[in-house]
Amino acid sequence: MPLLGVNVDHVATIRQARYRAGPGGSSGYGEPDVVPAAAAAVRGGADCITLHLREDRRHVIDRDVTKVRELCPVKFNLEMAGTPEMQGIALREKVHQVTLVPEGRQEVTTEGGLAVAGREAHWREYLKPLKDAGIVTSAFITPEDVQVRASIESGFDAIELHTGAFAHAWSERAGAGAGLYKSARDAVLRCIGSYSNTLRIHAGHALNYENVHDLLALPGARSEIRELHIGHSIVSRAVFVGLEQAVREMKQLVH
Ligand code: PXP
Repeated sequence: MPLLGVNVDHVATIRQARYRAGPGGSSGYGEPDVVPAAAAAVRGGADCITLHLREDRRHVIDRDVTKVRELCPVKFNLEMAGTPEMQGIALREKVHQVTLVPEGRQEVTTEGGLAVAGREAHWREYLKPLKDAGIVTSAFITPEDVQVRASIESGFDAIELHTGAFAHAWSERAGAGAGLYKSARDAVLRCIGSYSNTLRIHAGHALNYENVHDLLALPGARSEIRELHIGHSIVSRAVFVGLEQAVREMKQLVH
């Protein structure tokens, strides 16, 4: 049964839409505050809280990472680019897990997977201090053999399969989109079937209250996927039912 990681970046996105110019509001950092949001997600059943500290700090800011790490009683997963600065922050904050993602300044959200293949020596070196500090290292990759094998070769403990293509194909699965949907499912299935004995498999991106059911219905998915990381859909639902309840509903689907 996968653990549910809740990505609360989108709470910070709302805050920064108003307070980008600087601190303000009752917390001194503007509202809504990511720290009580993380606490609400935990009350709703989140097994892990994820924050993506972007290099441009466009939503999550350093103080969010420090506070959530300090106050959150569950696993803390820092999503980050593979830069020296981020490596230093992960070590300083003693996060439980890092998920390395590619970062593009213009993108709205993380678009592609990390380029691991061909850069194994680079990643091996980069991961060393993190692994020495006991931090679980995960690579956010497209579900392709070449990237999974390179992640193993680089020494990553886990891979997070980018489910963007799966989710997109899922919404087009009727009629002409059926072939694409089959390929996207097969790609995820192949990774689960071939590699779940070698490294931990996580999955995330564009999962929602509907498509998560079909992802978990894939043979082996429920037992072999260790973590699901979901943000946008949960925070969107929270607008109507509150974050705690939105997480609770997702947890019921995942478990
Ligand atoms: N996993 C990773 C590595 C991501 O970059 C994101 C997006 O921040 C997510 C999961 C969550 O994606 P979504 O917000 O679409 O659920």
